[in-house]
Amino acid sequence: MSIYGDYIKSVIRTVPDWPQPGINFRDITPLLQNSSAFRKLIDSFVHRYQDMELDAIAAIDARGFIIGAPLAYELGCSFVPVRKKGKLPFKTISETYTLEYGKSEVELHSDAFRQGDRILLMDDLIATGGTMLAAAKLITRSGGQVVETATIIDLPEIGGSSRIRDAGFGVFAVCT
Ligand code: PRP
Ligand code: ADE
Repeated sequence: MSIYGDYIKSVIRTVPDWPQPGINFRDITPLLQNSSAFRKLIDSFVHRYQDMELDAIAAIDARGFIIGAPLAYELGCSFVPVRKKGKLPFKTISETYTLEYGKSEVELHSDAFRQGDRILLMDDLIATGGTMLAAAKLITRSGGQVVETATIIDLPEIGGSSRIRDAGFGVFAVCT
């Protein structure tokens, strides 16, 4: 948990039974609408990663982009999108995974990283961990080194962050 964890948590809205019954959807739009909260969120990541000598931020389509791009700008490193299937125009590698509510596939350009590049992988939320794990595997397959995975929200009771750690990747969450 970060220094601003409790505050960030207080500006995230829970929408019950969306997109289907039984899912408590964690909605980050109130956080993004609040400029002070959004700044504190990005500052939390800057604080953690500014001395880690990262080569690139890889962020997951679509909500991961919202936090990955400003962090890459602030840290002065490159930005690499991990996209949902069929969105990247060049040669890709892909991984399929299961979601809390459905199935999906992520893709990465095969030339996204140089061998051994130090990569921070970002997304807004970890539920089952399937999305983050699929993206981490893609980065590893392409020759990048996943220094850590980072997220705004971890839902530990679903078990995704444990799954990611068991697979050998670190997890940093601003709040749970
Ligand atoms: C959500 C969220 C994460 C993923 C987390 O994305 O932004 O990427 O689910 O779930 P998991 O840990 O069970 O894999 P979604 O696929 O809904 O796409 P979006 O970002 O385009 O809304
Ligand atoms: N992605 C997967 N599960 C989610 C949840 N409960 N809230 C927001 N995004 C999600």
